[in-house]
Amino acid sequence: MGSKIIAANWKMNLSPQEAKRYFEEWVTYAHSTKVDVIFFVPAYCWQQAAEFSVAWGPQHVYCEEFGAYTGENSPKVAWDMGARWVLIGHSERRHLFGEGEELIRKKFYKTMEIGLKPVLCVGETWQQRESGDWDRVLENQLQSVLQGFDQVRGTLTEWVVAYEPVWAIGTGKVPSEGDIERAHFKIKNVIEKRWGLPAIPVLYGGSVNVGNASTILKTAGVDGLLVGGASLIPSQFYRIVQSS
Ligand code: PGA
Repeated sequence: MGSKIIAANWKMNLSPQEAKRYFEEWVTYAHSTKVDVIFFVPAYCWQQAAEFSVAWGPQHVYCEEFGAYTGENSPKVAWDMGARWVLIGHSERRHLFGEGEELIRKKFYKTMEIGLKPVLCVGETWQQRESGDWDRVLENQLQSVLQGFDQVRGTLTEWVVAYEPVWAIGTGKVPSEGDIERAHFKIKNVIEKRWGLPAIPVLYGGSVNVGNASTILKTAGVDGLLVGGASLIPSQFYRIVQSS
C-alpha cells in the first residue's frame, strides 16, 4: 500500500460558485499534502473540479455511456472531463434511491472499462450489526459485485473499497477501533481469498471528523478515509488530511 487516500464526499452540497471558492482555497494548501486526496462532487461541479486540476470523481453515474436515460450522468463524459475516480454503491444510493446489487455490479464494471477507478462502498445496517450478521453482510455485498470479476480481471484498472457502516453515516456514531479493524480485515481477507487480490486498499467512512481522523487512520487495516460532512469546509478538511 502506498500513501493513504483521503476522499471528500460533498453529497448534494455546494453550488458551482461555492465549489470554485472551495478549490481556490484548497489549492493554497494542496502543495503540502502527502496523501492522495480525491473529491467526489455533484455533477454541476465537475467543471470546477476539472479546472482546478484536483483528483475528482462523480458521486453517481449510470452503467451506460449515452442514451435515453433521463436525469442520469454519463461515466464517459465524466472521464472525458478529467474524472479518474467514481463512487459506486454508496449507502445513500442503495437505501434512498433503491440501487440494487445488479445495477451496482454493472456500474462497477462499466466505469472500470472506461478507466475510472471505483470506490466500492459496503457496510452493514445497525440491525445487521446487532444481530451479529455484519461479516456475512459485507461478504455478500462483495460477492455480489465481484462475481464475474475473473472474466475481466486482466483488463481492469485499480479499485478501492470503502467500509461505511450505514448507521455511522452522518450520525456522529463511529464504531470502536477494534470493530473497524475487524471489518477491514474481513474485507481484505475475502478479497484476497476469493479473488487473489491482496492489495486492494480499504477506506473507512462514517462520521469522520477532525477529532477522530487521526485515531481511525492509525487503526490497523485502514488505508484511508471517505469523509462526508466534515469535508465541506476546506480548512477543516485540510486538518483531516494533515492527520495522516
Ligand atoms: P459522513 O458521510 O462523513 O457525513 O458521515 C460519509 C459518507 O457518506 O461518505
